[in-house]
Formats: sequence, structure tokens, C-alpha cells
Amino acid sequence: GKSGYDHYMLKEIHEQPTAIRKCLRERVNELEGSVGVEELSELECDGPVQFVACGTSYHAALYGARLLRERGIRAQCFLASEYDVGMVPVSSDTLVVGVTQSGETADTMSALRAANRSGATTLALTNVVGSSAARECDHVMYIRAGPEIGVAATKTFASQQVALAMLSSVLSEESSMEFVERLRDLPDQIQQVLDGSQARGVAEAYEDSDAYFFIGRGYNAPVALEGALKMKEITYKHAEGFAAGELKHGPLALVTEKTPVFAMLTGSDISKTLGNVKEVEARSAPVVAVTDSPDTVSRYVDHVLEVPSAGSRFTPILANIQLQLVSYWVANRMGRSIDKPRNLAKSVTVE
Ligand code: F6R
Repeated sequence: GKSGYDHYMLKEIHEQPTAIRKCLRERVNELEGSVGVEELSELECDGPVQFVACGTSYHAALYGARLLRERGIRAQCFLASEYDVGMVPVSSDTLVVGVTQSGETADTMSALRAANRSGATTLALTNVVGSSAARECDHVMYIRAGPEIGVAATKTFASQQVALAMLSSVLSEESSMEFVERLRDLPDQIQQVLDGSQARGVAEAYEDSDAYFFIGRGYNAPVALEGALKMKEITYKHAEGFAAGELKHGPLALVTEKTPVFAMLTGSDISKTLGNVKEVEARSAPVVAVTDSPDTVSRYVDHVLEVPSAGSRFTPILANIQLQLVSYWVANRMGRSIDKPRNLAKSVTVE
């Protein structure tokens, strides 16, 4: 059941600390500062990595690819429906990673089948034991989020991000005390976000807006995309996410006093993104900052949703949780069918 929550989505948002603890269990060693994933003990990879995924899982893949690149691994992301082994070079040293919560998404399955046919090594990063992706791929790593009933992916996105962080460590054979401690601290930090979130008040302040924009750079760019996708799915309102630097290359034309802009202001990119915030404020748009540095940013923005600092890689995971809550509360105020939004299915089995 929903354990007292009005919707599975809200329950699953609140399950994130537990989901992340399960994802990390027996995979991180705090004494050694090392990461080891049992399922991947046979995986060897010195070649490039290609991620294939759809929707929210694609946003997780964008985040994961950046983690890999930061560790010196060549990594690219493809929307599974656009993946074409005839166009992208795939060889026997290529690792193709399908990121798929359900393990049943038709677009992702056909990309993985094509990768297998062309001789790549394949890995499924999935939540569902024995799913089609788990069976199709040479290797499988489970995200261990537990069943997700709400159609909108929430806890599984956070679990994918954490699993990808561990994958980046496994593939690069690099870890550190700091990295492992930051992972270990995430569940408690997520709990802090859940306990102290002002997202409901922000949702009430902007529930009548017709459009919402989300901006972030670096590790926050996929979070901006994910924030907008969640808002669209469950409120049926127009929402767009952008890499913060792209705003001035076109979308700024849409920004008015009626379009709230959610800006991810965490880590080391704050000053550049603050520049973009000033651009939207010059168009009188209200700005909500999701930030670990409220002292630096609060005078530039209308609302602050605070998150603890988890370092430049992981604070965006916390920022996303604030965005999940904002979308949830806007949809809730509108009386939407939050767990089963119109036109959407939990697993999309057609191409
Ligand atoms: C969004 C959402 C979808 C899925 C997408 C891929 O909330 O749930 O965008 O992320 O359909 O699904 P999986 O991860 O099962 O392959």
C-alpha cells in the first residue's frame, strides 16, 4: 500500500534514503575507501562506453557519462530510439550500457540487441531482476531501488545516479576515502532534504504559472532536464529544461514575468549560472534557486530551496529531490492523477 501517503509517487520520493542504502550495501568499503560491485567482477573494459536509454533513464545516463569522462573514460550518451550502430562506431572493445529501470523498454531493448549483434560488450543497469534487458546483456548491475509503482520515475532515478557513480569507480579502478564517504552520507542528506523541504510553499506560489523553466550546468544540466520532464508528466503543464548556458541562445525569448525559472546553483558552477539567473531576472522572471550556498545566492533570487553540500558530483542528486517535490505539490494542488498520468505507461513496450 501507500503507507499513509496520498500517492505512490510521494511514498517513493520518501523511500529514497532507503533505496540508496540498498544500492550501496556491500558495494562500498568505508575502511578501504573502495568500491566493488560483485555482479561486475567479470567485466573488463578498456574501450569507450556508450549509454543507451530513454526518458528519465536517459537523464541518469547523461549524468553518468559525465562521471565517467571526469575519470578519463570516453563516454557518450544516445537516446535509445536514435541509436544506430551503422552511424556510431562500435567495436569489440566498446561497452554499451543500457540504463533502464523496467528492463523492458522497447527502444532500449532494440539498441541493446543491435549492440550485441555488432559485437560490443553489453551491460544492463536495471531495477528488475530477470528483466528482458538483464537477460539480453552480457552483464547486469542492479540498482536495487525496490518496486516503483508511480508512473513517474523518482527513487529509481536517484538509484541509477548512485549506481552510475559506483560504475564510474569500477571502470576507472579509481576510488578514494572522500568518494566513498560522500556516497555513504547521501541517504542521510536526502533525509535532510525531505525533512526540511520548502518545496510545497514554492509550488503554491507558482501553481498558476503556465510554463516553467529549469536550468543547470555540468552535473546539474541533466537534473534540469529531469525537473522539467517530471513537471510535464504529472502537471500536464509546459516545462523545459536547459543547460544554463543555452538559455541565451534562444529560449530566453520565452522568459517573462509569468515563467518561473528554477536554477540549480550548486558546486563550483555557481557564478556562471548566476550570470544566467541575472539574464532571466532582467526579463522579470521569478527565480527559485536550488542551492547548497544560500548565503551567496539568496539576494539574487525570489525563493531558495536549500540542499546540503555533497560535493560537485553528488549535490545535484539532492537538488533533484527538491524538484521532484515541487512537481508533486503543483500536481497535487491541481488534483492531477499523479500516479497514473494520462497517456503514459510505466513500461513502454513499443518502439
Ligand atoms: C519518466 C519515466 C520515463 C522512463 C522511460 C524509460 O518519469 O518514467 O521517461 O524513464 O520510459 O523507462 P525505463 O527506465 O524503464 O527504460
